[in-house]
Amino acid sequence: MKMSLENIKVGMCVGQDLYTESGQLITPINTIVTPELLARLKKFRISCLEMTYDSLDDYIFDIKSTSGFKFFQNECTEAKESLTSSLDNILQENPDNSHIDMIKNLSALLYENNKKNINLIDMVYSMHEYSDSVYTHSVNVGMIASHLGHWLNLPEDEIKLLVTCGLFHDIGKLLIPKEILEKPGELTPGEYKIMQSHTSKGFELLDQFDDIDDRIKKVALLHHERCDGTGYPMHFNGDQLDKFSKIIAIADAYEAMTSERVYREPICPFTVVSYFEKEGLHKFDTKYVLKFLNKILNSYLHAKVLLSNDKVAKVIMINKNARSRPLVKVEDGDFIDLSVTPEISIVKMLP
Ligand SMILES: [Fe+2]
Repeated sequence: MKMSLENIKVGMCVGQDLYTESGQLITPINTIVTPELLARLKKFRISCLEMTYDSLDDYIFDIKSTSGFKFFQNECTEAKESLTSSLDNILQENPDNSHIDMIKNLSALLYENNKKNINLIDMVYSMHEYSDSVYTHSVNVGMIASHLGHWLNLPEDEIKLLVTCGLFHDIGKLLIPKEILEKPGELTPGEYKIMQSHTSKGFELLDQFDDIDDRIKKVALLHHERCDGTGYPMHFNGDQLDKFSKIIAIADAYEAMTSERVYREPICPFTVVSYFEKEGLHKFDTKYVLKFLNKILNSYLHAKVLLSNDKVAKVIMINKNARSRPLVKVEDGDFIDLSVTPEISIVKMLP
């Protein structure tokens, strides 16, 4: 939205690249307004400026009311239904290739849809209330992975393949007994072992089909491997893992942690980022995960959060050296730099 200079406040976000008449850049898009920037805008006699949304509430509300989101929501619901019937049919004793083709068509559809939806990560976030199953998780992972592929400048055919990898990666879970898959408590060591077998079960299932790309089969087997060798089932290290498995591993871990599950509430994205920063840089491919975190966190600028001191605050600026500990502004107007205030942390995203 266009705002006049007197209404622009510290902490708001610039929504355009702003140049002088001679072409000198005054401020790039997505810059958070500081007192210095306000002085600079005055100096260049800027009277009005395109700004982005003032709060994530308005933003999410706005996204949800757009025809784009409604289309996206319908597509996701249809994608989930189509994936459910195709995967269930593949599990039948006499599967035929038409269901594989249906999933490939679904991937192409989601890929085309993703290209149109630049706010996809926000849309997936807004959809989380609908996320309740392997099928929804798989659709979300496919979409998140394709976005990461795009951020990594991968070629179009590889990004398309990432969507399909996401749709198929957890197919082995459909072969795990429901009482383990949906157990609302911690798994016993025996149950955990059965749960882990969804990787090899998924691979064996997909391997029956010559029509499925080997890279998709590999992802089903290797998406729980970690670059430091602590994953399963093969305990491979980073050098032994392909880029598709590494990318799906990041999208899968992120989606699983930020979604609600039968046994817990969704984990706050800043806690997830903190996990990725503490452990993820060794467990996941560093260059992929850093790109992912930087891009994802842009979605949470201006988000309303609850702090561990029970105060409500707004995220003002992401600190690249401590991504999970941004600069926040509390409701009474004080700024807190969480990167130098270890006793306070973000505990929850607020609606
Ligand atoms: Fe999995």
